[in-house]
Amino acid sequence: MDFHSLPIKSIQKETSDAVSITFEVPAEYKKSFSFAAGQYLTLEAEINGEKVRRAYSIWKAPFENEISVLVKKIEDGKFSCFANNGLAASTRMSVAPPIGNFKLVENGKALTLFSAGSGITPIISIIKQQLFNGQDNKVVLFYVNRNQESVIFKDELDKLVATFPNQLTVHHLFTREENTSNQFSGRIDAEKCKELSSEKVLNLKSDDFYMCGPEEMILSVKNYLLENQVDEKKIHFELFSSSLPTDNTFDSSIEKATVFVTIDDDEFEYEYTIAEADSLLEAGNDSGLDLPFSCKGGVCCTCKAKVMEGEAKMIKNYALSEEEVADGYILTCQAHPTTEKLVISFDE
Ligand code: FES
Repeated sequence: MDFHSLPIKSIQKETSDAVSITFEVPAEYKKSFSFAAGQYLTLEAEINGEKVRRAYSIWKAPFENEISVLVKKIEDGKFSCFANNGLAASTRMSVAPPIGNFKLVENGKALTLFSAGSGITPIISIIKQQLFNGQDNKVVLFYVNRNQESVIFKDELDKLVATFPNQLTVHHLFTREENTSNQFSGRIDAEKCKELSSEKVLNLKSDDFYMCGPEEMILSVKNYLLENQVDEKKIHFELFSSSLPTDNTFDSSIEKATVFVTIDDDEFEYEYTIAEADSLLEAGNDSGLDLPFSCKGGVCCTCKAKVMEGEAKMIKNYALSEEEVADGYILTCQAHPTTEKLVISFDE
């Protein structure tokens, strides 16, 4: 990946366990750091002698001409603890240019968005850009948090509602706080959607639906929308965490494969031993390549490559569309060869 050392312009505490980091982008990198609302940056830092990489969504909108990410502290999270405790403004950080398939499709006027916790980061970028794009645009947000104190970007959201009272509606739902209206408490799932829709708060005729948060919420809402005749093309989502149990074991009829890799027009070759290797990505990087990755969880799409010859199977895929999979794309962090010769390209 193409990392650049960017100066940190400011670090701001957003809640007791989340900071916002704003980067300065020197003129020579402006073009490569332009982004669409909803995309993310990959940050890299050396922490206790180990290079750690993480993907964080940009919460500023493109029209704001600033690039900021939110890092929420998670227990024992190497990068998030480092960013929340040990980072200072005026230092520099390695940052790869914005990427990501989860982005605002700029043709629908009425949007409905769902988010939970730090899933608000790409969502608030999409909201701001949509409001900026036209005064006929309408946005409804359903945002789940534990309680009032844990609402990230509360002031920013309140300001947006005050500035665009006829265009933006925000429904806060709390999971650990009393709320007089049952409609606006608890998690968002299919049952809650049914309730919100029968109360005419959720508009199933929206032009597009965007969701970012935990897997349970996304899968449940997505299924509800599909069951209610919402076109799958209108449903856009980004997973921030995958907590559903998955079977990570991989059974193969082959023991070894030879993998040929093209990246940045260079060609490499390495041997892949099924019983030992974690994934094509890990095996490639263990053999000395510098293959791109970020989440390693099948979520972010940074490790996407195309199979040019042979076959590979993915354990999990939360990032590629059915069309991309049919076209031969794989997430190398989740993929294993199933043929003895596999040719993959990161340049396609
Ligand atoms: S590294 Fe994120 S999907 Fe593979």
